[in-house]
Amino acid sequence: MKTKKHLIKHSFIIVLCLGLPVSAWAVVTGTCSNCHTMHNSQNGAPMNLNNSSAPNKLLTKGDCLGCHGTGGGNNIDPATGAPQVLHTNATDLAGGNFKYIETGGDNRGHNVVELGNTEDTIPYAPGHIHQMNDYSGFTVNVSCAGRLGCHGTRQKVNGTYSGGNEALKGTHHGNVDGKLDTADTAANSYRFLRGVKGYENMGTFKWQNKDADNHNEYLGATTPMNAIFGCTPCHVGEPPTGSIEPVNHTISGFCATCHRDFHIVPAIGGDTTSPFTRHPTDVVLPNAGEYANYNQGNSKQYRVDAPVARTTVPDSIGNTVTPGADVVMCLSCHVAHASNYPDMLRWDPSAIIAGNGTNNNGCIICHTQKDDGI
Ligand code: HEC
Ligand code: HEC
Ligand code: HEC
Ligand code: HEC
Ligand code: HEC
Ligand code: HEC
Repeated sequence: MKTKKHLIKHSFIIVLCLGLPVSAWAVVTGTCSNCHTMHNSQNGAPMNLNNSSAPNKLLTKGDCLGCHGTGGGNNIDPATGAPQVLHTNATDLAGGNFKYIETGGDNRGHNVVELGNTEDTIPYAPGHIHQMNDYSGFTVNVSCAGRLGCHGTRQKVNGTYSGGNEALKGTHHGNVDGKLDTADTAANSYRFLRGVKGYENMGTFKWQNKDADNHNEYLGATTPMNAIFGCTPCHVGEPPTGSIEPVNHTISGFCATCHRDFHIVPAIGGDTTSPFTRHPTDVVLPNAGEYANYNQGNSKQYRVDAPVARTTVPDSIGNTVTPGADVVMCLSCHVAHASNYPDMLRWDPSAIIAGNGTNNNGCIICHTQKDDGI
């Protein structure tokens, strides 16, 4: 009887689990000592994974790049399980690969200060509202995490603006995967980008945008942010306290916290209809004209080289695009870290040619009539 009762109880739990929303925990796993060192010393030598000798906050064996940018041949580090953003493996993860800044030049990506390879051309975020170093003599353009960076909580931590592990505190052991529709902490936000909602690819190709069936899903909106002088699209709470995050929770709104003028309504043309003065984002792909034929018909299959965002966070990965509902986003054309092409584009812009009748790449995936006029 007892066994049967147990069995019933267990199947009940299984059923419950299957019925749960797809939001799931995917916290770091493995022996503590894979990732942490108590004294940064073993036989008198430092313990860091990347041969640096300084100890790290929260006692990790590396800083962000120490674990995520080992520069080796794996796109997922076999020792810690950390997804790699700087590596030699041919398959890049969804953000791209910071190695292209080394191989192609500064215009391939965000020269995060941790790379030790400073951006030589652009002095601050183009389209910015505040120069990235306006406020207290910062000399860096952009960092992996913290107030002057992207991941984690972008605010003062313990009274300072430094943005390493402490900006991520609590995320790795509290990581939520799958459908992220709350986004009120860094741990339950899309890829630890505080405030950003989305759906994280959890399948075999986790962290990759591989093809129509295996990719992340991004949140978009039907109108970009509208404020010109208000502080609230980017500051939650009164600056300089509080955190910096996009209040509309979209990925384009996130980029706009630093690149404001490439997103907000007044700067793209004054409204959300043609004619525009800058390429719109967080506007609906019209179900009319050339846009209705996304991907030249082809069953409107989702293209990872011209992806769209959804206006609600989906429960699972969708492999088609719906003109009239889905929206253009910054990541329709750019990657977030670095790509093999100028301006962090997803494709070589010099190869996207109007009027030659054979293309279905880059801009033409959406602007389907610019290839052959029909
Ligand atoms: C000690 C090693 C280590 C350090 C240091 C570290 N990470 Fe991680 N990180 C990991 C591992 C392992 C995972 C994979 C967790 C999993 O399996 O979901 C991860 C996952 C992530 C993810 C993906 C989360 C997701 O949604 O799946 C992001 C983003 C991230 N780390 C950013 C950072 C940043 C930024 C820093 C520096 C402030 C940092 N990490 C420092 C080991 C590390
Ligand atoms: C924390 C601020 C910040 C955020 C958030 C941010 N950027 Fe940037 N971005 C910068 C800065 C600073 C530069 C100039 C320095 C550089 O290129 O390294 C820059 C440069 C760029 C460039 C030009 C790269 C080059 O060197 O020519 C592109 C393209 C870009 N960002 C796109 C994006 C996209 C897309 C997003 C959202 C996924 C985004 N940015 C989010 C700060 C930011
Ligand atoms: C795969 C890598 C990894 C493993 C294994 C790991 N940690 Fe961590 N841990 C991290 C990273 C990265 C941070 C710093 C960033 C953060 O807090 O997310 C961290 C932060 C912490 C923190 C401070 C933040 C918090 O969440 O409380 C504590 C305490 C901690 N770890 C304890 C442990 C213990 C105990 C173990 C073993 C049972 C362990 N860790 C195993 C990667 C790991
Ligand atoms: C388009 C997004 C955006 C808007 C709108 C915006 N800010 Fe910011 N603000 C940022 C970003 C990003 C940072 C951090 C990086 C930097 O300093 O450039 C920041 C930093 C600051 C800081 C430095 C302290 C801190 O929290 O890091 C102050 C002060 C500040 N903003 C004040 C304001 C005020 C006041 C307004 C409204 C008049 C405003 N901001 C509107 C994006 C914005
Ligand atoms: C339709 C494709 C497309 C979309 C969508 C798009 N960009 Fe771009 N972006 C480009 C191209 C192409 C360039 C090269 C410069 C140009 O054509 O103006 C560029 C250049 C940039 C630059 C470098 C500017 C400089 O001065 O060097 C930044 C920063 C940038 N984009 C950020 C963004 C952000 C942030 C968003 C979303 C709000 C966005 N882009 C949306 C295609 C796009
Ligand atoms: C993900 C789909 C998508 C991609 C990729 C894309 N666009 Fe667009 N583009 C749009 C949408 C949607 C509009 C707004 C259409 C409307 O509302 O009338 C637009 C608007 C424009 C406009 C302004 C038209 C007007 O009437 O003001 C131009 C020009 C343009 N795109 C050129 C490009 C170029 C060049 C590229 C490649 C660098 C590109 N687009 C990539 C979807 C896309």
